[in-house]
Amino acid sequence: MTQRPYVIDEMISAKAIAARVEALCREIHDEFVGTDKLIVVGLLRGSFVFIADLVRELDLPIEVDFLEASSYGNAQHSSREVRILKDLRGAIAGRDVLVVEDIVDTGHTLNHVMGLLRSRKPARLKSIALLNKPSRREVDFRADWIGFEIPDEFVVGYGIDYAQRNRNLPYIGKVRFTE
Ligand code: PRP
Repeated sequence: MTQRPYVIDEMISAKAIAARVEALCREIHDEFVGTDKLIVVGLLRGSFVFIADLVRELDLPIEVDFLEASSYGNAQHSSREVRILKDLRGAIAGRDVLVVEDIVDTGHTLNHVMGLLRSRKPARLKSIALLNKPSRREVDFRADWIGFEIPDEFVVGYGIDYAQRNRNLPYIGKVRFTE
């Protein structure tokens, strides 16, 4: 696929993200302090940078697991189908679970994943998303913690890709097409 030429304008700096991660971790710590059964679950692939920063900032005894989901549009039914491409390695019944996502857009992915994990009867199930695009929401879902509310812009970096590129940018940038 040929890509339209584009540039990336910085939208949220690495410094602003680090400060927000620190603040979020204080709140998460207050929520989970005292438990020794917390599993932090990253949704692949977009969350890999965020979860790496979160768990290193979180002074709690934790386990880490990953899950990969993919959502496909279904034009016929004007709905989306979410499929699990890689499930968790471990059981979560009776455990405390924090699901980490990079961005909530239509809400289908995280809404589906939370429903699935809830059915496995964890003791506590919470979610955190670095970015939230409320204007794009198609299902009634809100993460328990949100890093930043953003407008409907095409964003990349800090784990988020455009055609699989730019995940390694240390900041969140906005894609601007030049042609
Ligand atoms: C992106 C993002 C979220 C999802 C959000 O994942 O990482 O998981 O879309 O969209 P939604 O709220 O509309 O469901 P993507 O499928 O691009 O995969 P990736 O994480 O591997 O980049």
